[in-house]
Amino acid sequence: MMLKLLVAVFAAALANSASALPGFQYHQGDLASDIATEKSIALQGALDNIGPNGAKALGVSAGVVVASPSTVDPNYFYTWSRDSALTFKMLVDEFLTGNTGLKSHIEDYINAQAILQTVSNPSGSLSSGRGLGEPKFYVNETRFNGAWGRPQRDGPALRATTLIAYTKWLLKNGGMSEAMNVVWPVIKNDLNYVAQFWNQTGFDLWEEVSGSSFFTTAIQHRALVEGATIAKQLGLSCANCESQSPSVLCFLQSFWNGEYIVANINTGVSRTGIDANTILGSIATFDPDACCTESTFQPCSHRALANLKVYVDSFREIYAINAGISNSSAVATGRYAEDVYFNGNPWYLCTLAVAEQLYDATQQWLGHHNLFISDIDLPFWESIYPAAKIGQYNSGTPSFDNLIAAAMNFADGFVNIVGKHIPSSGALSEQFSRENGTALSAHDLTWSYVSYVTMAAARHAAIALNAAAQEPNQVPSWGERYADIVPSVCVATSAQGSYAAATAAGAPPDAGGCTVTVLFDVDASTYYGENIYMTGNTTDLGNWSLADAVPGNAAKYTSSRPLWYFEIDLPASTTISYKYLRQESDGSWLWETSNRTYSIPACGTQAETGNVVVESSWVGPSGMAPR
Ligand SMILES: *[C@@H]1O[C@H](CO)[C@@H](O)[C@H](O)[C@H]1NC(C)=O
Ligand SMILES: *[C@@H]1O[C@H](CO)[C@@H](O)[C@H](O)[C@H]1NC(C)=O
Ligand SMILES: *[C@@H]1O[C@H](CO)[C@@H](O)[C@H](O)[C@H]1NC(C)=O
Ligand SMILES: *[C@@H]1O[C@H](CO)[C@@H](O)[C@H](O)[C@H]1NC(C)=O
Ligand SMILES: *[C@@H]1O[C@H](CO)[C@@H](O)[C@H](O)[C@H]1NC(C)=O
Ligand SMILES: *[C@@H]1O[C@H](CO)[C@@H](O)[C@H](O)[C@H]1NC(C)=O
Ligand SMILES: *[C@@H]1O[C@H](CO)[C@@H](O)[C@H](O)[C@H]1NC(C)=O
Repeated sequence: MMLKLLVAVFAAALANSASALPGFQYHQGDLASDIATEKSIALQGALDNIGPNGAKALGVSAGVVVASPSTVDPNYFYTWSRDSALTFKMLVDEFLTGNTGLKSHIEDYINAQAILQTVSNPSGSLSSGRGLGEPKFYVNETRFNGAWGRPQRDGPALRATTLIAYTKWLLKNGGMSEAMNVVWPVIKNDLNYVAQFWNQTGFDLWEEVSGSSFFTTAIQHRALVEGATIAKQLGLSCANCESQSPSVLCFLQSFWNGEYIVANINTGVSRTGIDANTILGSIATFDPDACCTESTFQPCSHRALANLKVYVDSFREIYAINAGISNSSAVATGRYAEDVYFNGNPWYLCTLAVAEQLYDATQQWLGHHNLFISDIDLPFWESIYPAAKIGQYNSGTPSFDNLIAAAMNFADGFVNIVGKHIPSSGALSEQFSRENGTALSAHDLTWSYVSYVTMAAARHAAIALNAAAQEPNQVPSWGERYADIVPSVCVATSAQGSYAAATAAGAPPDAGGCTVTVLFDVDASTYYGENIYMTGNTTDLGNWSLADAVPGNAAKYTSSRPLWYFEIDLPASTTISYKYLRQESDGSWLWETSNRTYSIPACGTQAETGNVVVESSWVGPSGMAPR
C-alpha cells in the first residue's frame, strides 16, 4: 500500500519543483517525506544484501556485502572491496547518528575484511601487500580467478576510512583495546598498501581504464591523512602515511585541466575524462570542517562546482529522457557520455551523487557563513541563478540566501529525477533507461541504495544547519584543514610497507605466510586474438584447471621481443610444477610439451634483490591464426 503511494508522492514532488521556490526555503512538505520513505527502503535494501542474514544474501559469509543479488545478465553476486567499504562507511555514519542496531553488522564487516585481506588472489598475497589491490572475491571469501580489471587501488583506502570512522567512536566509548588490537591491524595493512602503491597505475572504479584515477587518488590522500591522525590517537604512528600524503596531494592536482577534473590520467584511453568518478571523489572526501579548498576539490570549491556543471551538461543532449529539460535544471546523469555498458544509461548513484555534492557544498557555505563566486565557477552559478556575479556573499544577506536556495533547488531536482524513475516497490537497480526511464541492469544494487542514504543524510544536514533547530548530524571531519597545502614540487615516491594477518579480528592464524613475488617471462610469438596463460599444481596457479589458469600480460610484447609475463606471489621455499598454455581465438587450448618446475626462494630474499625473474621461451605447438 505504502509503496503505491510513493509513486504518487514522487509525482507530486516533481510537479512542485517545476517552479523554483522564492527565497531560502526548501520543499519542506512532500519531497522531505518522500526522501524519508525511500531512505528507509534504501537502508533496508543495503542490509538485505549483507550476509549471513540479509534477505537477499542468505548463506553469504557474515559481514560480506553482495554487490547485487543479480546472478545473470549481469552476474554481480560477488563482493567488491570498494562497494563494501562504501556500504559500511554509510552504515558507520548511520550508527554514529543513532542507529545503534548496526553495531553487530560493523563487527561482522571487520571480521570479514580481516579474513579477505589474507586470501591470496590473482593480484597477489598479503605478504607482499599486492593482494590487497584485488577488486572482488566470491561471497564465501574465496579467490576469484577470472580475467578482470585488476588491481584496483581504491579498496584499501576506502576500507581504511570506514574502519577509522568506527575506531574514532571506539576511542570515545571505552573501546581502546578493541581499537588497538582488533581494528587497527586491519587498518594498518590498508594504510601501508596505499603508501606503497599510490604511485602505480591500476584500474578505475568502473573497472575499465588502467591508469591513475581521480577517485582513487583523492580517497588515498584522505586515508593517509586520517591514518596518521588515528595512529597518534592510539599512541602509535603511521610514518608511511606522513611521508606519502603530501606527495599524493601534489599528484592530485594533475587531474585539473583548467575547466574540469579529468577522471583518468596516465592512460592510453581517449575519452574526454568527464566522468562521475570526479563527483564521487569529491563527495567521498567531503569534510564539513574544510574551507572550499581547491587542492582537495571540496564540494564547494570553485573547481568542483565548475566540474559539476561540465559533468551534468555532458548528459543533456545524449539521453532521450533529458530532452526538453531546460539548461538550468537537473537531468539524469550516468557514468560518462561515451559509456556503452548496457547501451550507456543514467545511473541512480551518479544522479544522486550530483545532489549530494551540492548538499555537501551547502553545508560548507552555511558553516562558513559565506560563499565566494570566482571566474571558475561563475558559469555554474549563472546557469542556476542568472543574476550571479563574481564576488563574496555573506550570510544574512538576501543574495546569500538566494544563491543557497538556487543550489538546494537544483540539487533537489536530481533527487526528483531519480524519484520519478524509482519503481513502485522503491527498489533501486543500477541503471534506468536513457530512452524511457525504466530500471535496467543489476537489480537491488547495494551501491545504489547506499547512494540514496548518503544523499538523504547530506540533505538532512544542510537543512538542519540552516534551520538550527535540530542536530545536523554531519559526517565527521577527516582533518582536511590540516592537510591541504600542496608541496611546491611533486615527487614520485613510495614507502615499503609491512603486512600481517589481523588475527585478533579473525584472520586465520596460518594465513598470510611469507611469499615472494616472482616475475615469469616467456617469449611466445602469438597472433592477434591468441593469449598465453600459465597453470600449475598450486591454487595460485589454478591447480591445472583451465578455468583457473592465470592470464598472461602482453603489455611489453614488441616486434623484436614477443614477451608475455606473469607476476605472481608464491609461498617462499616451496616448489611448483607448471606449464604455459595458449588459448586460441576459437577458445581451444594448446599446452606446452613438458612440465616445468621452479623452486621459490626463501623468505627475505625479495626485498634485498627486487623481484625474482624466471626467463623462458615457449616449448610446444604454435597456434595458427584463423583465415
Ligand atoms: C566458493 O564459491 C565459489 C563460487 O560459488 C565456488 O566455486 C567455490 O567452490 C566455493 N568455495 C568454497 C570453499 O566453498
Ligand atoms: C607518480 O607521481 C608523479 C609525481 O606526482 C607523477 O608525475 C606520476 O604521474 C605518478 N604516476 C602514477 C602512476 O601515479
Ligand atoms: C542548452 O545549451 C546548449 C549548448 O550549451 C544549446 O545548444 C541549447 O540550445 C541550450 N538549450 C536551451 C533550451 O537553451
Ligand atoms: C524502455 O527502454 C528499454 C531500452 O532502454 C527497453 O528495453 C524497454 O523495452 C523499454 N520499455 C518500455 C516500457 O518502453
Ligand atoms: C587440486 O585439484 C585436485 C583434483 O583435480 C584436488 O584433489 C586438490 O584438492 C586440488 N588442490 C587444491 C590445492 O586446490
Ligand atoms: C608441485 O610439484 C612440485 C614438483 O613436482 C612438488 O615438489 C610439490 O610438492 C607440488 N606441490 C603440490 C602442492 O602438490
Ligand atoms: C604435468 O602436467 C600435467 C598437465 O599438462 C598435469 O596434469 C600433471 O599432473 C603434471 N605432472 C606433474 C608430475 O606435475
